[in-house]
Amino acid sequence: MSKITAAITAVGSYVPDYVLTNQILETMVDTNDEWITTRTGIKERRILKEPGKGTSFLAINAAQDLLSKSGVDPKDIDLVLVATATPDMKAAATAPYTATEIGATNAFAFDLEAACSSFLYGMSVASSYIESGRYKKVLLIGADKNSSFINYKDRATCIIFGDGAGAVLFEPNEEGFGVQDELLRCDGSGREFLRAQYGGSSYPITEETFNEGSHYVFQDGKTVFKNAVSNMADVAEQVVKRNNLTNSDVDWLVAHQANKRIIDATAHRINLEDEKVMMNIQKYGNTTSATLPLLLSDYESQLKKGDNLIFAAFGGGFTWGALYYKWAYNS
Ligand code: UT7
Repeated sequence: MSKITAAITAVGSYVPDYVLTNQILETMVDTNDEWITTRTGIKERRILKEPGKGTSFLAINAAQDLLSKSGVDPKDIDLVLVATATPDMKAAATAPYTATEIGATNAFAFDLEAACSSFLYGMSVASSYIESGRYKKVLLIGADKNSSFINYKDRATCIIFGDGAGAVLFEPNEEGFGVQDELLRCDGSGREFLRAQYGGSSYPITEETFNEGSHYVFQDGKTVFKNAVSNMADVAEQVVKRNNLTNSDVDWLVAHQANKRIIDATAHRINLEDEKVMMNIQKYGNTTSATLPLLLSDYESQLKKGDNLIFAAFGGGFTWGALYYKWAYNS
Protein backbone atom coordinates (compact mmCIF):
# COMPACT_ATOMS: atom_id res chain seq x y z
CA MET A 1 0.00 0.00 0.00
CA SER A 2 1.29 3.47 -0.87
CA LYS A 3 2.26 5.88 1.91
CA ILE A 4 -0.51 8.22 3.02
CA THR A 5 0.28 11.89 2.69
CA ALA A 6 -1.86 14.79 3.92
CA ALA A 7 -3.28 17.06 1.26
CA ILE A 8 -5.44 20.15 1.23
CA THR A 9 -8.65 19.36 -0.65
CA ALA A 10 -10.64 22.57 -0.09
CA VAL A 11 -10.03 26.21 0.83
CA GLY A 12 -12.26 28.99 2.20
CA SER A 13 -11.82 32.50 3.53
CA TYR A 14 -13.50 35.49 5.10
CA VAL A 15 -12.54 39.11 5.69
CA PRO A 16 -14.75 41.75 7.32
CA ASP A 17 -16.28 44.46 5.13
CA TYR A 18 -14.77 47.52 6.82
CA VAL A 19 -11.64 48.74 4.98
CA LEU A 20 -9.09 50.71 7.03
CA THR A 21 -7.01 52.52 4.41
CA ASN A 22 -3.66 54.25 4.82
CA GLN A 23 -5.51 57.51 4.20
CA ILE A 24 -7.80 56.89 7.19
CA LEU A 25 -4.78 55.99 9.35
CA GLU A 26 -3.24 59.34 8.39
CA THR A 27 -6.10 60.99 10.30
CA MET A 28 -5.54 58.79 13.37
CA VAL A 29 -1.74 58.77 13.91
CA ASP A 30 1.34 60.62 12.63
CA THR A 31 1.93 58.55 9.50
CA ASN A 32 1.45 58.74 5.75
CA ASP A 33 0.55 56.51 2.82
CA GLU A 34 4.00 56.85 1.25
CA TRP A 35 5.83 55.68 4.42
CA ILE A 36 3.49 52.74 4.99
CA THR A 37 3.59 51.66 1.34
CA THR A 38 7.35 51.81 0.92
CA ARG A 39 8.21 50.33 4.35
CA THR A 40 5.59 47.57 4.43
CA GLY A 41 3.73 47.22 1.11
CA ILE A 42 0.38 47.65 2.90
CA LYS A 43 -2.36 49.86 1.41
CA GLU A 44 -5.38 48.75 3.44
CA ARG A 45 -6.56 46.18 5.98
CA ARG A 46 -9.95 44.82 7.08
CA ILE A 47 -11.34 45.44 10.57
CA LEU A 48 -14.16 43.58 12.33
CA LYS A 49 -16.05 46.47 13.89
CA GLU A 50 -19.29 44.91 15.17
CA PRO A 51 -19.35 44.74 18.98
CA GLY A 52 -19.48 41.27 20.48
CA LYS A 53 -18.03 39.56 17.42
CA GLY A 54 -14.63 37.95 17.91
CA THR A 55 -12.24 35.59 16.18
CA SER A 56 -14.83 32.80 16.11
CA PHE A 57 -17.03 34.97 13.88
CA LEU A 58 -14.18 35.18 11.35
CA ALA A 59 -13.36 31.47 11.71
CA ILE A 60 -16.98 30.36 11.30
CA ASN A 61 -17.42 32.43 8.16
CA ALA A 62 -14.19 31.11 6.59
CA ALA A 63 -15.19 27.52 7.42
CA GLN A 64 -18.69 28.03 6.02
CA ASP A 65 -17.18 29.41 2.81
CA LEU A 66 -15.08 26.22 2.53
CA LEU A 67 -18.06 23.97 3.27
CA SER A 68 -20.36 25.65 0.76
CA LYS A 69 -17.70 25.57 -1.98
CA SER A 70 -16.66 21.96 -1.40
CA GLY A 71 -19.98 20.38 -0.45
CA VAL A 72 -18.28 18.59 2.47
CA ASP A 73 -20.75 17.51 5.18
CA PRO A 74 -19.55 19.10 8.45
CA LYS A 75 -20.66 15.95 10.31
CA ASP A 76 -17.81 14.08 8.56
CA ILE A 77 -15.12 16.35 10.02
CA ASP A 78 -13.01 14.64 12.71
CA LEU A 79 -11.08 17.61 14.08
CA VAL A 80 -11.41 21.40 13.96
CA LEU A 81 -8.20 23.26 14.73
CA VAL A 82 -8.31 27.03 15.15
CA ALA A 83 -4.86 28.61 14.83
CA THR A 84 -5.12 32.00 16.50
CA ALA A 85 -3.29 34.51 18.64
CA THR A 86 -6.55 36.28 19.53
CA PRO A 87 -8.99 33.69 20.93
CA ASP A 88 -12.53 34.85 21.75
CA MET A 89 -11.91 34.46 25.47
CA LYS A 90 -9.10 33.60 27.89
CA ALA A 91 -10.73 30.49 29.27
CA ALA A 92 -12.87 28.79 26.67
CA ALA A 93 -11.14 27.73 23.46
CA THR A 94 -12.46 29.24 20.22
CA ALA A 95 -12.34 26.00 18.23
CA PRO A 96 -15.13 24.02 20.00
CA TYR A 97 -17.55 26.93 19.58
CA THR A 98 -16.54 27.25 15.93
CA ALA A 99 -16.99 23.50 15.37
CA THR A 100 -20.47 23.50 16.89
CA GLU A 101 -21.58 26.60 14.97
CA ILE A 102 -20.57 25.06 11.61
CA GLY A 103 -22.32 21.78 12.44
CA ALA A 104 -19.16 19.70 12.96
CA THR A 105 -21.00 17.78 15.65
CA ASN A 106 -18.80 14.66 15.47
CA ALA A 107 -15.51 16.53 15.77
CA PHE A 108 -13.21 17.37 18.63
CA ALA A 109 -11.62 20.80 18.55
CA PHE A 110 -8.84 22.86 20.06
CA ASP A 111 -6.90 26.09 19.56
CA LEU A 112 -3.27 26.33 18.57
CA GLU A 113 -1.19 29.44 19.32
CA ALA A 114 2.23 30.29 17.94
CA ALA A 115 1.72 33.95 16.98
CA CYS A 116 2.25 34.53 13.26
CA SER A 117 3.48 30.93 12.82
CA SER A 118 0.24 29.47 14.19
CA PHE A 119 -1.13 28.37 10.84
CA LEU A 120 2.19 26.89 9.66
CA TYR A 121 2.56 24.92 12.90
CA GLY A 122 -1.12 23.98 12.49
CA MET A 123 -0.33 22.50 9.07
CA SER A 124 2.22 20.28 10.79
CA VAL A 125 -0.29 19.14 13.43
CA ALA A 126 -3.16 18.63 10.97
CA SER A 127 -1.02 16.70 8.50
CA SER A 128 0.44 14.47 11.23
CA TYR A 129 -3.04 13.35 12.29
CA ILE A 130 -3.81 12.45 8.67
CA GLU A 131 -0.46 10.76 7.92
CA SER A 132 -0.77 8.60 11.03
CA GLY A 133 -4.08 7.29 9.70
CA ARG A 134 -5.86 8.34 12.86
CA TYR A 135 -8.26 10.84 11.26
CA LYS A 136 -9.59 11.43 7.75
CA LYS A 137 -10.83 15.03 7.73
CA VAL A 138 -9.05 17.79 9.64
CA LEU A 139 -10.29 21.35 9.25
CA LEU A 140 -7.53 23.87 9.96
CA ILE A 141 -8.65 27.48 10.33
CA GLY A 142 -6.28 30.44 10.74
CA ALA A 143 -8.20 33.36 12.22
CA ASP A 144 -7.28 36.55 14.02
CA LYS A 145 -9.09 39.66 15.16
CA ASN A 146 -5.90 41.64 15.66
CA SER A 147 -7.85 44.88 16.07
CA SER A 148 -8.89 43.55 19.49
CA PHE A 149 -5.41 44.12 20.94
CA ILE A 150 -3.95 46.87 18.80
CA ASN A 151 -3.52 50.39 20.14
CA TYR A 152 -4.78 52.71 17.40
CA LYS A 153 -2.63 55.48 18.87
CA ASP A 154 0.59 53.50 18.31
CA ARG A 155 1.83 54.05 14.76
CA ALA A 156 4.45 51.31 15.15
CA THR A 157 1.75 48.63 15.21
CA CYS A 158 -1.62 49.98 14.07
CA ILE A 159 -0.50 50.43 10.47
CA ILE A 160 0.50 46.77 10.17
CA PHE A 161 -2.25 44.53 11.48
CA GLY A 162 -5.67 43.56 10.13
CA ASP A 163 -8.44 41.02 10.78
CA GLY A 164 -9.33 37.96 8.70
CA ALA A 165 -9.59 34.20 8.46
CA GLY A 166 -8.85 31.35 6.09
CA ALA A 167 -9.65 27.65 6.28
CA VAL A 168 -8.28 24.50 4.66
CA LEU A 169 -9.40 20.88 4.81
CA PHE A 170 -6.70 18.20 5.10
CA GLU A 171 -7.50 14.69 3.84
CA PRO A 172 -5.45 11.54 3.10
CA ASN A 173 -3.83 11.33 -0.32
CA GLU A 174 -2.39 8.16 -1.87
CA GLU A 175 -0.75 9.80 -4.91
CA GLY A 176 2.00 11.49 -2.91
CA PHE A 177 0.56 15.02 -2.98
CA GLY A 178 0.37 17.32 0.04
CA VAL A 179 2.93 17.93 2.78
CA GLN A 180 6.40 16.70 1.79
CA ASP A 181 8.74 18.18 4.38
CA GLU A 182 8.91 20.77 7.13
CA LEU A 183 11.44 22.61 9.25
CA LEU A 184 9.95 24.32 12.31
CA ARG A 185 11.89 26.34 14.87
CA CYS A 186 11.54 28.67 17.87
CA ASP A 187 13.67 30.92 20.07
CA GLY A 188 12.02 32.03 23.30
CA SER A 189 14.61 34.72 23.93
CA GLY A 190 12.76 36.71 21.28
CA ARG A 191 9.50 37.06 23.15
CA GLU A 192 10.27 40.47 24.60
CA PHE A 193 10.41 42.01 21.12
CA LEU A 194 6.83 41.24 20.06
CA ARG A 195 4.29 40.74 22.79
CA ALA A 196 1.00 41.71 24.42
CA GLN A 197 2.32 41.30 27.93
CA TYR A 198 -0.47 42.19 30.33
CA GLY A 199 -3.62 40.11 30.58
CA GLY A 200 -1.80 36.77 30.66
CA SER A 201 -1.10 34.68 33.78
CA SER A 202 2.28 36.24 34.58
CA TYR A 203 1.02 39.78 34.39
CA PRO A 204 -2.68 40.24 35.15
CA ILE A 205 -4.11 43.59 34.11
CA THR A 206 -4.18 46.21 36.85
CA GLU A 207 -5.70 49.66 36.70
CA GLU A 208 -2.20 51.10 36.27
CA THR A 209 -1.16 48.80 33.40
CA PHE A 210 -4.53 49.30 31.76
CA ASN A 211 -4.06 53.06 31.82
CA GLU A 212 -0.54 52.61 30.39
CA GLY A 213 -1.97 50.45 27.59
CA SER A 214 0.35 47.52 28.44
CA HIS A 215 -2.31 45.02 27.33
CA TYR A 216 -1.85 46.16 23.73
CA VAL A 217 0.63 44.66 21.28
CA PHE A 218 4.15 46.04 21.55
CA GLN A 219 6.68 45.48 18.79
CA ASP A 220 10.37 46.38 18.49
CA GLY A 221 9.98 46.43 14.72
CA LYS A 222 13.66 46.65 13.78
CA THR A 223 14.68 43.62 15.86
CA VAL A 224 11.72 41.56 14.67
CA PHE A 225 12.43 42.59 11.09
CA LYS A 226 16.09 41.48 11.26
CA ASN A 227 15.22 38.14 12.83
CA ALA A 228 12.35 37.55 10.41
CA VAL A 229 14.48 38.20 7.35
CA SER A 230 17.35 35.95 8.35
CA ASN A 231 15.40 33.09 9.96
CA MET A 232 12.60 32.79 7.42
CA ALA A 233 15.01 32.91 4.51
CA ASP A 234 17.33 30.37 6.21
CA VAL A 235 14.66 27.71 6.75
CA ALA A 236 13.13 28.25 3.31
CA GLU A 237 16.55 27.79 1.74
CA GLN A 238 17.27 24.67 3.81
CA VAL A 239 13.94 23.06 2.88
CA VAL A 240 14.51 23.83 -0.81
CA LYS A 241 18.06 22.45 -0.72
CA ARG A 242 17.41 19.29 1.24
CA ASN A 243 14.58 18.35 -1.16
CA ASN A 244 16.93 18.91 -4.12
CA LEU A 245 14.67 21.58 -5.58
CA THR A 246 16.06 24.18 -7.96
CA ASN A 247 14.40 27.56 -8.33
CA SER A 248 12.68 26.34 -11.49
CA ASP A 249 11.12 23.44 -9.54
CA VAL A 250 9.47 25.83 -7.09
CA ASP A 251 6.16 27.18 -8.43
CA TRP A 252 5.06 29.36 -5.51
CA LEU A 253 6.35 30.97 -2.35
CA VAL A 254 3.53 31.18 0.21
CA ALA A 255 5.07 33.42 2.86
CA HIS A 256 3.58 35.04 5.94
CA GLN A 257 2.46 38.56 5.05
CA ALA A 258 4.11 40.78 7.67
CA ASN A 259 6.16 43.09 5.48
CA LYS A 260 6.71 43.01 1.72
CA ARG A 261 10.43 43.57 2.26
CA ILE A 262 10.68 40.41 4.40
CA ILE A 263 8.81 38.36 1.78
CA ASP A 264 11.03 39.75 -1.00
CA ALA A 265 14.17 38.86 0.98
CA THR A 266 12.99 35.26 1.38
CA ALA A 267 12.10 35.03 -2.32
CA HIS A 268 15.49 36.46 -3.23
CA ARG A 269 17.32 33.88 -1.07
CA ILE A 270 15.70 31.01 -2.99
CA ASN A 271 16.09 32.85 -6.33
CA LEU A 272 12.38 33.11 -7.05
CA GLU A 273 10.94 35.51 -9.60
CA ASP A 274 8.24 37.97 -8.41
CA GLU A 275 5.52 36.15 -10.41
CA LYS A 276 6.00 33.08 -8.20
CA VAL A 277 5.56 34.99 -4.95
CA MET A 278 2.02 35.06 -3.59
CA MET A 279 1.26 38.52 -2.26
CA ASN A 280 -1.87 40.08 -0.78
CA ILE A 281 -0.38 42.16 2.03
CA GLN A 282 -1.49 45.30 0.16
CA LYS A 283 -5.15 44.34 0.75
CA TYR A 284 -5.15 42.82 4.22
CA GLY A 285 -1.96 43.83 6.08
CA ASN A 286 -0.69 41.31 8.61
CA THR A 287 -3.60 39.07 9.65
CA THR A 288 -1.31 36.87 11.83
CA SER A 289 -2.70 33.28 11.62
CA ALA A 290 -4.80 34.05 8.56
CA THR A 291 -2.14 35.22 6.09
CA LEU A 292 -1.24 31.80 4.64
CA PRO A 293 -4.80 30.48 4.08
CA LEU A 294 -5.90 33.88 2.74
CA LEU A 295 -3.10 33.58 0.16
CA LEU A 296 -4.27 30.08 -0.79
CA SER A 297 -7.82 31.35 -1.13
CA ASP A 298 -6.81 34.31 -3.31
CA TYR A 299 -4.52 32.19 -5.54
CA GLU A 300 -6.50 28.92 -5.56
CA SER A 301 -7.70 29.39 -9.15
CA GLN A 302 -4.08 29.71 -10.36
CA LEU A 303 -2.80 26.59 -8.59
CA LYS A 304 -2.32 23.40 -10.58
CA LYS A 305 -2.09 19.79 -9.45
CA GLY A 306 1.58 19.00 -8.83
CA ASP A 307 2.70 22.60 -8.20
CA ASN A 308 5.52 22.83 -5.67
CA LEU A 309 4.78 25.34 -2.90
CA ILE A 310 7.19 26.58 -0.26
CA PHE A 311 5.38 27.90 2.81
CA ALA A 312 7.32 30.12 5.22
CA ALA A 313 6.41 32.08 8.33
CA PHE A 314 7.97 34.02 11.18
CA GLY A 315 6.26 35.36 14.28
CA GLY A 316 6.37 36.37 17.90
CA GLY A 317 7.89 34.00 20.37
CA PHE A 318 10.02 33.88 18.25
CA THR A 319 8.53 31.09 16.12
CA TRP A 320 9.27 30.30 12.50
CA GLY A 321 9.50 27.61 9.88
CA ALA A 322 9.17 26.49 6.29
CA LEU A 323 7.22 23.66 4.70
CA TYR A 324 7.42 22.01 1.28
CA TYR A 325 4.01 21.15 -0.17
CA LYS A 326 2.81 19.58 -3.46
CA TRP A 327 -0.59 21.00 -4.52
CA ALA A 328 -3.17 18.21 -4.95
CA TYR A 329 -5.88 19.46 -7.32
CA ASN A 330 -6.86 21.69 -10.24
CA SER A 331 -9.71 24.03 -9.39
O1 UT7 B 1 4.26 39.08 11.85
C1 UT7 B 1 5.13 38.98 12.93
C2 UT7 B 1 6.42 39.48 12.60
N1 UT7 B 1 6.41 40.92 12.43
C3 UT7 B 1 7.19 41.44 11.53
O2 UT7 B 1 7.82 40.71 10.80
C4 UT7 B 1 7.33 42.95 11.46
C5 UT7 B 1 8.79 43.31 11.37
N2 UT7 B 1 9.08 44.72 11.37
C6 UT7 B 1 8.72 45.55 10.36
O3 UT7 B 1 8.03 45.17 9.46
C7 UT7 B 1 9.30 46.93 10.36
O4 UT7 B 1 10.31 47.04 11.32
C8 UT7 B 1 8.26 48.06 10.59
C9 UT7 B 1 7.33 48.18 9.41
C10 UT7 B 1 7.46 47.75 11.85
C11 UT7 B 1 8.97 49.39 10.77
O5 UT7 B 1 9.77 49.65 9.62
P1 UT7 B 1 11.30 50.09 9.79
O6 UT7 B 1 11.82 50.30 8.44
O7 UT7 B 1 11.98 49.07 10.66
O8 UT7 B 1 11.16 51.47 10.52
P2 UT7 B 1 11.79 51.94 11.91
O9 UT7 B 1 11.03 51.39 13.04
O10 UT7 B 1 13.27 51.75 11.88
O11 UT7 B 1 11.52 53.48 11.81
C12 UT7 B 1 12.14 54.31 10.80
C13 UT7 B 1 11.62 55.72 10.96
C14 UT7 B 1 11.72 56.26 12.38
O12 UT7 B 1 11.98 57.64 12.30
P3 UT7 B 1 13.46 58.20 12.50
O13 UT7 B 1 13.89 57.72 13.85
O14 UT7 B 1 14.28 57.59 11.40
O15 UT7 B 1 13.28 59.67 12.38
C15 UT7 B 1 10.35 56.01 12.93
O16 UT7 B 1 10.03 56.91 14.00
O17 UT7 B 1 10.22 55.77 10.63
C16 UT7 B 1 9.49 56.30 11.73
N3 UT7 B 1 8.20 55.60 11.79
C17 UT7 B 1 7.12 55.99 11.12
N4 UT7 B 1 6.90 57.01 10.29
C18 UT7 B 1 5.69 57.12 9.74
C19 UT7 B 1 7.89 54.46 12.48
N5 UT7 B 1 6.62 54.11 12.25
C20 UT7 B 1 6.12 55.03 11.41
C21 UT7 B 1 4.87 55.20 10.80
N6 UT7 B 1 4.70 56.26 9.97
N7 UT7 B 1 3.84 54.36 11.00
